[in-house]
Order: sequence, then structure tokens, then C-alpha cells
Amino acid sequence: MKDKIYIANWKMNITSKEAQSFFDKFERLYKKEENKKVVLCPSFTTLVSSTNSQSLKNLDNIYFGAQNVSDKISGAFTGEVSAAMLEEIEVEYCIVGHSERRAVYNETDQMINDKIKLLAKSGIIPILCVGETLDSRERGESDQVVLKQLSSCLNQVAVSEIIIAYEPVWAIGTGKNASISDISNMNSTIKKQMNKLGYIDDQFYILYGGSVNIDNLSSIDEASFLNGFLIGGASLNPQNFWDIVDK
Ligand code: PGA
Repeated sequence: MKDKIYIANWKMNITSKEAQSFFDKFERLYKKEENKKVVLCPSFTTLVSSTNSQSLKNLDNIYFGAQNVSDKISGAFTGEVSAAMLEEIEVEYCIVGHSERRAVYNETDQMINDKIKLLAKSGIIPILCVGETLDSRERGESDQVVLKQLSSCLNQVAVSEIIIAYEPVWAIGTGKNASISDISNMNSTIKKQMNKLGYIDDQFYILYGGSVNIDNLSSIDEASFLNGFLIGGASLNPQNFWDIVDK
């Protein structure tokens, strides 16, 4: 059985100091659960202090991830952070292709593809976000959009493990969720496409993200085929996040 993965995407929230108090509380709540993994994705500066912090070091099944990485190896790229820099601080996962990066910072599938290749070289597991906008959904093009994102972002990529987070853009931070049948259909679309791209089932995880919280978790979790969740807003509070992991 595959582990269930709970990823906290803190976005541009939680300073290093605030993270320390999150960790102290989370450490008190946390009980290792078989077949469950937690990945915390703070901002870059908080990530450095987090990976150095002793608080969660002794807890099993808790990992750190970055929210982004440069599509370039190194050099004159002001403001960028490379995969090698993440590797140096022992980051194990990295989110790529989040819809906020695509929409606000104009990231293209080509850039995401380059990022994944660099992460692969550094042995960092990519968390690739895919998902349709409301417009494409209304045009009935959700599958098409996700299929194209997967094939372009994973073009010529060889990774032994990858997480695909299906996050319909219209569900992120809006309080709306996709229905179980939407998630189920998209899950099989993603699975088929991953197989077609040469990935065997053991190599990839399919998560759902978009306004997941403790109140709607039970209904989304009926989708027993899901390998976990990518959680934004509800991961900012240690109790709320733990309740979701523990459920
Ligand atoms: P949300 O964010 O849970 O706040 O909708 C999810 C995400 O953007 O990854």
C-alpha cells in the first residue's frame, strides 16, 4: 500500500519565528502514523531555519519541501534559488508548477519541465501541480488541459518518484471543492497519462488540493484512490493541520 502524503503549502506565510512556535505545537500533537507522511513547505528563509531546527528532527515521517526552485542551474539570475542550494540544506521535496506561479509569475510548462529535470539531478522529489482554470472547465476542457500539462512538464524527464497534485485552479483558496466524481475522473485521466509516459504505478502519487479543510475532508477522502492532499490555508495552524493528518 502506498503511503498517504499530507503536504502543507504555507505560501508566503509563517516567518522563521512563527514556524518555531508552529513546530513546538505540532511536535506535541504529532503521533507517527503508519503509512502517513507529512511534508511541510515553508518559504525559503523559513525553510533554512526549519531544516536546521531540532524540533521536528526526531520525529519520523516528517519531511521538508520548498515551494519553488529556479529553472536555471546557477549564475546571474537575481533572486533565484537553485536545486543544488535546496539539496545542500537537505530539502527532500519541491513544489513546481503551482497555479499561482503559473498565473502571477507567468511560468510556462517549459520552465516547469526544466525545474523538474534539475530537481531530479539533485535527488529532490518534485510535487507537480496540475489543474484547469474555471474557463477551461466551463469549456469542458479540463482533461485536455491536465493531459497537456503532464506531457509537457514531464517531457524527457526521468525520476524514480514524483507526486502529482491535482489542484483545480477554481478550487484554490475559494472554499469550493471538486466533486468526488470530478476527482475520480481526473484521477484516472492522470493515472493513464502517467502510465503512457512510462511511469509505473509505484512511481507516482496522485494528490488532491484546493480548499481542503477538516470539514470537507471526510467527503473528499471518500475518494479512497487518492494518495493524499496538498493543503494551503488549513495548514497554517498546527491544530487544524494535525486534525487533517490524523483523521
Ligand atoms: P488552499 O491552497 O488549500 O488554501 O486552497 C491549496 C494550494 O494552493 O496548494
